[in-house]
Amino acid sequence: MKLEQALPRIIAIDGPAASGKSSVGQRLAAHLRYLYFDTGAMYRAVAFLAWERGILPYDEPGLSELARTTRIDVVPSAPGDPRPYVVQVEGRDITEGLRLPEVEAIVSPVSAHPGVRAALTAQQRRIGLAGQVVMVGRDIGTVVLPEADFKLYLDASLEERARRRYAEYRTRGQRVTFEEILASMRERDRIDSTRETAPLRQAPDAVYVDTTALSLDEVFEHILHLITTRARNRINPKT
Ligand code: DC
Repeated sequence: MKLEQALPRIIAIDGPAASGKSSVGQRLAAHLRYLYFDTGAMYRAVAFLAWERGILPYDEPGLSELARTTRIDVVPSAPGDPRPYVVQVEGRDITEGLRLPEVEAIVSPVSAHPGVRAALTAQQRRIGLAGQVVMVGRDIGTVVLPEADFKLYLDASLEERARRRYAEYRTRGQRVTFEEILASMRERDRIDSTRETAPLRQAPDAVYVDTTALSLDEVFEHILHLITTRARNRINPKT
């Protein structure tokens, strides 16, 4: 068996906001030539459309209907486009809207509704089962694709994650204070990990990596090493 054939078909990466999931997931997908799929983008798309249409974050029937009836496509961007992916709703590119503070403020409560999750989970599962995919989110290893053959749970301290998010906002020219970011991140962690349906949780068979003191290069190298070591062990099982 060749190394490529022994690599995991489905790589699931979960963890809290700014734990490094997206950066490392993109890098891993590019390296393995897999599809990179960010499930958070789908929840953000529902939150963005809800905000635009005036559907309130606690309107479970309205939000579930929106998630069920809207076709959300997360597609790789065209060559030369620096964005890792483009999110389209009925042919309209809404990618830029997904990071608006208005979306940031409601995405956690919006994504906590079971009806919203059921609609999006079904689509994510279909995409994931096709294989050759790095899927990133909160519940991929536990609920969306429990059969994933490589699961990672990335984590970092709250302060470090807030520092990373703050730096991203500053780069984009958004005016926020570090304290605001810290407080909203703490609240998002609370909602994401205490909701009843598919809370943020490490799958029992996931590898835990604390990225607090690691650079992106270090995290990537570490994970690639884990994946290739497992693949080699599959080819030549140790006796
Ligand atoms: O990864 P992100 O910050 O783009 O995610 C935005 C929100 O979407 C996050 O607060 C929780 C929710 N989410 C989720 O509930 N399940 C997923 N698989 C991905 C994201």
